[in-house]
Amino acid sequence: MRTQLEKIKSEVKEALNKVKSLEEVNELKVKYLGKKGELTQVLRGMGQLVPEERPIIGQLANEIRDELNKVLDEQVKKIKKIEQEQKLNLETIDVTLPGKQFLKGTKHPLSLVIEEAKQIFMGLGFQIAEGPEIETDYYNFEALNLPKDHPARDMQDTFYITSDVVLRTHTSPVQVRSMESLTPEVPVKIICPGKVYRKDDDATHSPMFHQIEGLVIDMGIRMSDLKGVLLAFVQQMFGPDRKIRFRPSYFPFTEPSAEVDVSCGICKGDGCKACSYTGWLEILGSGMVHPNVLKYGGYDPTKVKGFAFGMGVERIAMLKYNINDMRLFFENDIRFLRQF
Ligand code: PHE
Repeated sequence: MRTQLEKIKSEVKEALNKVKSLEEVNELKVKYLGKKGELTQVLRGMGQLVPEERPIIGQLANEIRDELNKVLDEQVKKIKKIEQEQKLNLETIDVTLPGKQFLKGTKHPLSLVIEEAKQIFMGLGFQIAEGPEIETDYYNFEALNLPKDHPARDMQDTFYITSDVVLRTHTSPVQVRSMESLTPEVPVKIICPGKVYRKDDDATHSPMFHQIEGLVIDMGIRMSDLKGVLLAFVQQMFGPDRKIRFRPSYFPFTEPSAEVDVSCGICKGDGCKACSYTGWLEILGSGMVHPNVLKYGGYDPTKVKGFAFGMGVERIAMLKYNINDMRLFFENDIRFLRQF
């Protein structure tokens, strides 16, 4: 038995000199030290020995097992080290190669205009307000001094959901909602950017478009305040050389009412094709808040006054970026959108 053990020991050592891979080392381990391995088999036969010999052979067997484990482990380490070195030699990393390019998105031109408008109005002390796109007849019309059957309702081709619920046709309902939530506090100074809906569809009209509503209420507010705010806005949005002009108009919720034009940026006001040879481009509707609307919002028209305006975001973006078809905003053509 002793010679058997010694033989196993020298066999393993000899075999180890030839192995090159981790798998081969593993095979050796199984062959000699595994459950059915040769050394294990020898140990199983210990029962046949005379009792005095058992501890001596047992000790020897243990020594051999430990030694084999040790040399096998050493071999594993050696092979791993060699493999790692080979890998390092093969893999050369060129740190001067350009990195992978990510496809970066751009902001939609309408988002850019809304963000810029928000910045400008916040700079003038306005706060941002919000309201629902699905709106009641009351807020979209009635509380804006447009009772049922009022002929001015025809100015806005409305999507009705029920006879009392509409897709808001403008952001003006947020005027009354903001007043309700703030009354009797003054000043009220809000803008509300958002989506609005009308049954319209051509190169200059889309069934869904965006507006930015503005509302200021305070003691002693005058039309000149409206002019000052709008001039500041236009000159920051389009450039300090731009002028504005007010044309009398009609909205049931403002009195007096005015439409506001900005001087044409292409011809500087001389008249060209872009401005239909007028030198001016319309950008918004505005006026002094009608006393009835102040009352609907919970304010006393004998104590406070206000002005309001509503501008079309698409119109502003078309003027700012020289875009001639509104549908381009909604077609999602990446060649168009990448330009912003
Ligand atoms: N709501 C009006 C429209 O959509 C614009 C407007 C807003 C006019 C506020 C006056 C005051 O046409």
